[in-house]
Amino acid sequence: MTQNGSYPLWWKDAVIYQVYPRSFADSDGDGIGDLPGIIEHMPYLEKLGIDALWISPCFQSPQGDAGYDISDYRKIDPLFGTVEDYEALIKEAHDHGLRVIADMVPNHTSDQHAWFKEAMASDPGSAARERYLFRDGKGKGGNEPPNNWQSVFGGIAWTREPERKDGKPRQWYLHLFDSCQPDLNWDNPEVRTEFESVLRFWLDRGVDGFRIDVAHGLIKEKGLPPYTERATMVGEDDDKTPSDAPMWDRDGVHDIYRSWHKLLASYPGDRMLVAEAWVKPLSRLARYVRPDEMQQTFNFDYLLCRWNAAKYREIITDSLEAMHEVGAITAWVMSNHDSVRHASRLGLKDAGARPQGIDAAHEQPNEALGLRRARAVIFMTLGLPGSVTLYQGEELGLPDHTTLDKKYRQDPAFFRTNGEEIGRDGCRIPMPWTADGPSLGFNENGELWLPQPQQYKEYAVSTEENDPHSTLALYRTLLNQRKNSRLGRGTLEWAEPRDNVVEFTNGDVRVVLNCGDEPVSLPPGEILAASLEIEQDGVLPANAAVWISEGKG
Ligand code: GLC
Repeated sequence: MTQNGSYPLWWKDAVIYQVYPRSFADSDGDGIGDLPGIIEHMPYLEKLGIDALWISPCFQSPQGDAGYDISDYRKIDPLFGTVEDYEALIKEAHDHGLRVIADMVPNHTSDQHAWFKEAMASDPGSAARERYLFRDGKGKGGNEPPNNWQSVFGGIAWTREPERKDGKPRQWYLHLFDSCQPDLNWDNPEVRTEFESVLRFWLDRGVDGFRIDVAHGLIKEKGLPPYTERATMVGEDDDKTPSDAPMWDRDGVHDIYRSWHKLLASYPGDRMLVAEAWVKPLSRLARYVRPDEMQQTFNFDYLLCRWNAAKYREIITDSLEAMHEVGAITAWVMSNHDSVRHASRLGLKDAGARPQGIDAAHEQPNEALGLRRARAVIFMTLGLPGSVTLYQGEELGLPDHTTLDKKYRQDPAFFRTNGEEIGRDGCRIPMPWTADGPSLGFNENGELWLPQPQQYKEYAVSTEENDPHSTLALYRTLLNQRKNSRLGRGTLEWAEPRDNVVEFTNGDVRVVLNCGDEPVSLPPGEILAASLEIEQDGVLPANAAVWISEGKG
């Protein structure tokens, strides 16, 4: 064991906590969270019992997509602080036994990046344009986009340059996301060299790893062949795999990750890479975590799974098997800054579905039921071998803001779909730290980049801290037990399948999750933790879960 209590290759069983800096804690009262805010709450994070922080992008950015549009990869945006603040954050985290994972966005830059500005000021065919994906338009005068690709955020994936001094037809540039996020040309060696240098910049400052944004998108099929589907990131429909799309999961991406693997391995400590890759099937996803590539890839099948015991069993079995095949661990995740929070998703009629945001005009989740299920599902998640990523606020049981007024919306997806898609703002609401104060302790003056819903007051850290039955207390208990029993390094053994029940043993813990609406019987054994009070011995109520001590029954 190392000094901070973790084992070699810490990422194999790490519980990673995603900090979304905009909404974590605001130290300077501008309504947007910042790095000093995170530093201030380091004791809270340590006490929770996690192993690492993943910090969503806080690099210099015009904030066209909440920081996923970076204009300088070596600077911190003044909204969040300075490079010195980031260094201080790394030190503070390390002092509290926590690792730090930065968020790297290599698929695209901001349109305010020096490279893109240079490209726009340069001629077609110039070296500056070769760093991006500029093409001539089709049709008369090149007035039509080069192909029919659609953006993930809606609308056509091409934007035409506004003017040309020489009067020649204006070119178009590709953006799989917003028009302020031009895609880079990863076939250009200069792009590769630059990103290796950026990775070094942050590795030299002590980051323990990187989450790689849109890891499956960097290489596009040669010739950019037509594709009629919208380039959605989500493979919700089993038959429609994004792997068929010419912009996703091309074999060429793996060379990039092999070179990054080597780069990280040249640094001391077990540095790691985790992929955000919306790729199906699992055998394709597993390619991202072959021994000489990344260390983890988020398991979105798990996030997308409906509230259904048989489905959970299937996904868990298939995922462990597919990752094991390449010698990798599975990285479980239920929520993030791109998805309606699972406490809300599990309260929908179609429990576990992932709508593209919820507003007052939509079905409102059943909050109590969603919370009850969220408290249950974490027993399964933290009981599984592998690594787990938590999203800030889920430890409080936070729901989404599901009635946020349109006037507050900021997600580019909302605007690019003319409001048809509500977007992701509802899961990005500032954290409630205290039950009183104008912004519930997010800052002192009540400025908020997105308003908090009424009921966030009830989920405040200050309240949950003092309640032994709170979701926060539950997370702390489970995280602590998970660590003591080394469940992340354990082996899963299924119990005899029963309707509506997910039941397995991992080391000295038996996990029983009842996804049904009827109570089920419990196996004998001492109850280590329960998602709600067990009133009748040997009976697990509907939508509830327990950990039972194996061998003591
Ligand atoms: C990833 C990020 C998301 C962002 C997109 C474009 O999916 O998680 O927030 O909008 O990439 O960078």
